[in-house]
Amino acid sequence: MRVLAIESSCDESAAAILDETDGLLAHELYSQVEVHRAYGGVVPELASRDHVRKLLPLVRRALETAGGGTDSLCGVAYTAGPGLIGALLTGAALGRSLAYAWGIPAVAVHHLEGHLLAPLLEPQPPPFPHVALLVSGGHTQLIEVRGVGRYRILGDTRDDAAGEAFDKTAKLLGLPYPGGPELARLAGAGVPGVFQFPRPMLDRPGLEFSFSGLKTAVQHAVRGRALDPRLEADVARGVQDAIIETLTVKAERALEQTGLDTLVVSGGVSANLSLRAALAAAAAHRGARVYYPRIEFCTDNAAMIAMAGLLRLRAGAHQGLAIEARAHWPIESLAPVAAGASSREASLGSP
Ligand code: KG4
Ligand code: ZN
Repeated sequence: MRVLAIESSCDESAAAILDETDGLLAHELYSQVEVHRAYGGVVPELASRDHVRKLLPLVRRALETAGGGTDSLCGVAYTAGPGLIGALLTGAALGRSLAYAWGIPAVAVHHLEGHLLAPLLEPQPPPFPHVALLVSGGHTQLIEVRGVGRYRILGDTRDDAAGEAFDKTAKLLGLPYPGGPELARLAGAGVPGVFQFPRPMLDRPGLEFSFSGLKTAVQHAVRGRALDPRLEADVARGVQDAIIETLTVKAERALEQTGLDTLVVSGGVSANLSLRAALAAAAAHRGARVYYPRIEFCTDNAAMIAMAGLLRLRAGAHQGLAIEARAHWPIESLAPVAAGASSREASLGSP
């Protein structure tokens, strides 16, 4: 079975082709960073218009790279939510239409399920059940993953997501969009402890997060202060350390609570190398193992959508002819897939 996947939920246009036997054959990505940079954040209408321009050429390139022609495809997967509704509709319309034209099934994929299943693209996929720490621009969740489509949310954020906390504090420091990776880069040159920011919700039991106070704390710390580059790096370090410690302690707590010894970390913030190191150390300390997607599949991409789509198509899921997308879509509402299927069976190997 071979699928074409399309991702367009936010500011990345992407297409990928995944084959059940041969693995990942092509993955194409175009980032809209330059389109949105002047505005300091994603402008939804500009995002939609750019997806319309870029998606089809990306699909063509992916087909050329993979070879085998459209006849070799068994289905088309597209991100149907959650995300920016206009952006989602561009990918959904294209994916649904191509599947119709080629006479093959289409499947709507949940973007966050894509992130959760991205580590299955790696040669050493994580076993089920496991705890997933999903840290993206819009979500910060601890999820008990018992199998594909079998998700139980253990903890969520009450306000900002971890990626949002990175982005908003980066903006306060005057760093260009997208702020997360910029702040992480700057933090590398900072001295730990010069700025001690709050570790939100650590003093309380439970697995909830709250990151909005961090932004206010940074605002207070930098107000009326001339920040030279050295001090700026120290602030960045303070912010990153606060976010990482919070995520690490809560992830450990989730392992403790569930009695599981496998942790999966995915979503854009899982590209942060300091976070990876902190989680690896914490897990090793308690005899647990951590799995990540490779860096390029931490942030938005179509390979992860292909993985989720292929597993769902293989289980018989497919959409009607209506073009549907959802800005909000609770992950717990997804249908379970082939209960009992091992992750090794689910894994499709590396490119
Ligand atoms: O998963 P993703 O690409 O898009 C969403 O689904 O939201 O995540 C994007 C988020 C942004 O907030 C971005 O700043 C953050 O991931 N991010 C990082 C790093 N790379 C991306 N945050 C911290 N350190 C990084 N290296
Ligand atoms: Zn994402």
